[in-house]
Amino acid sequence: MSFELPPGFHRLSQFERLQTLADLCQLTQDELGILQGDSLDSKLSEHLIENAIGYFPVPLGVAVHFVIDGKKVLIPMAVEETSVIAAASATAKWIQKQKGTLITSVQGHLGIGQIHFPEVSSFDRIASLFHEHREALVKLANACVPGLVARGGGVQDIVWRIASDGSGSHLVLHVLCDSCDAMGANLINQICESLKPSLEQMTGERVGICVLSNLVDTKLVSAKLVIACENETLAQGIVEANLCAQRDPYRAATHNKGILNGIDPIVLATGNDWRAVEAGAHAYAARSGRYEPLTHWSIEGEHLVGTLQLPLSLGICGGMTKLHPTSRVVLKILGVSSASELGRICVAVGLVQNLAALKALVSDGIVKGHMKLHASNLAMAAGASPKEIPLLQQKLIELLDQKKPIHLNQAKACLDSIRLQKDR
Ligand code: MEV
Repeated sequence: MSFELPPGFHRLSQFERLQTLADLCQLTQDELGILQGDSLDSKLSEHLIENAIGYFPVPLGVAVHFVIDGKKVLIPMAVEETSVIAAASATAKWIQKQKGTLITSVQGHLGIGQIHFPEVSSFDRIASLFHEHREALVKLANACVPGLVARGGGVQDIVWRIASDGSGSHLVLHVLCDSCDAMGANLINQICESLKPSLEQMTGERVGICVLSNLVDTKLVSAKLVIACENETLAQGIVEANLCAQRDPYRAATHNKGILNGIDPIVLATGNDWRAVEAGAHAYAARSGRYEPLTHWSIEGEHLVGTLQLPLSLGICGGMTKLHPTSRVVLKILGVSSASELGRICVAVGLVQNLAALKALVSDGIVKGHMKLHASNLAMAAGASPKEIPLLQQKLIELLDQKKPIHLNQAKACLDSIRLQKDR
């Protein structure tokens, strides 16, 4: 699907935005109701978690102006933080204006299941046993997931490695599994646990932990942005900001948080496991032994070039993705038909979100844009009625324009004065 959005989408009312979206993505009335939060019945939460007492709805918005791999895409994002969606959309629009290209690719499609041998007597003996029985083990593993094998997936290989720290080493098997369009955590965990008795029998060694790894460096997704940037100061500032993150892990953590600001909201909105994505991203950022930025920015001739690579294990079927009604509508809006397509969109948005943050940080700073949008949160928190919010928001923005910081107490004081003036 390819989407053409009318200009000024953000200026429409929420109702008008929904109608526009419905027309573009052929959403049904039921699906519109789902987006408006009508349809979460308590039975679903009972099935998903324990001791369920309700739901915690997070705002769902849509980032616009994205062209990824030459295709226009609308990006639904579930996020509580002000200005994430605005920054992503504004930067995607800038990229379009500058005729930038945002291209993605996938490196690998296999998840990793780990089987740990904590007390191996001879690594060589076990290694040669694995070598000898590798094919039989792969067959045994696949016998545990016939449905997955029938869908074209399954275990493709089993390899071993030695994991060590200063206190010693142990042996770990990596079960490399294609989980097709599912994230695959349950499938992989089942495979690993099912192999345990045979492995203990075969080796005579004790098997310890059997579980998937979230550091899926066998399932990497990359994005590359090439954009003309006439403003040399800006381009150099972005490269310098990247260097700050490269040299300083304290900065790298915030830099990477900005990237995940783009990725997590899509992961959440599609019902995927954002803790798994976070864990994988941070572990990958530290793979050299130092915690580093996940993006890299450079100037090549007239162009600013940004790249991002990270492990992403996502699904479009199985788990919450298909059970949660909102995730189903979100996937329809995204127009993706495979898990790898979803990963490509996530990595592209992560790169653009990082560019948005760096662009702001090296020019106006983030406070101006962020606080202008945050003013409406403050107005609401101060207790303003829907009618009073725009006026209070305006007053707070005036304070910001005078370079005064804004906060809740001040918003309350402004609201009092607005009400006093009205009463006079
Ligand atoms: C805020 O949510 C994210 C940023 O701090 C990211 C960054 O500093 O690069 C703006």
